[in-house]
Amino acid sequence: MVKVVAGNWKMHHGPSATTRFLSRFRPEVEDGSVRLVFFPPHLSLAAAVAGTRVPADFGVQNIHWEGSGALTGEVSAEMAREAGATLALIGHSERRHIFGETDAEVGRKVAAAARAGLVPVVCVGELLAERRAGRLDEVLRRQVGAFAESLAGAAEFMVAYEPVWAIGTGETATPGDAAEAHGIVRDALGTLGRGAPVLYGGSVKPGNAAALVSVPDVDGVLVGGASLDPDVFARIAEACASAGRAGAGS
Ligand code: PGA
Repeated sequence: MVKVVAGNWKMHHGPSATTRFLSRFRPEVEDGSVRLVFFPPHLSLAAAVAGTRVPADFGVQNIHWEGSGALTGEVSAEMAREAGATLALIGHSERRHIFGETDAEVGRKVAAAARAGLVPVVCVGELLAERRAGRLDEVLRRQVGAFAESLAGAAEFMVAYEPVWAIGTGETATPGDAAEAHGIVRDALGTLGRGAPVLYGGSVKPGNAAALVSVPDVDGVLVGGASLDPDVFARIAEACASAGRAGAGS
């Protein structure tokens, strides 16, 4: 499987910064050797779609489950699609833990994305306290179970395993941690997950990306902080492309 290299810009890079980033972003990877994805802020999506010089897909970081309505400040999957998004990040840990998004809401958003023809990229991951309490398996199965049925109409989807304790902290899961968690996610997805990429996210950097995507069940990376600089993100893409080639040849 071609490795997915996705950048989640969170609340960074407005339209001008987006244009500047994309004019400088030139990873030395052969076309098709990695699948590049960007999740810019909603307001930067148009600049991103217009400004890319390399083949890449663009998605939004959040959607509401309704198609339209009196929901001030929200954006629907249909609107995101019309504005050029082909994917939607759903259930990121910052949405879950800062904005109180529930498993049930994640499920509704996944269904809305699928209905609108967006590829849902659904995030799951345990808190440090849950990991320490030996609840990794239970938490991941609960989170996957809450959106699995909503995937029924999706032509394509991805899952991102992002241990909450590794996001923006500099702490990275070891390849062994990632192997264990990705194995649980794959098992929880069952036949539904066949062919669906499962990405790892949490303090991915140029120096650890290759080791992480060399883990058999890790199909790519979802990168936050290190995706904001075009040269750093290009080095991550290059590392994933060579690890993918090495894996394909072994
Ligand atoms: P990080 O963020 O790479 O800055 O840890 C990852 C994410 O939140 O998707």
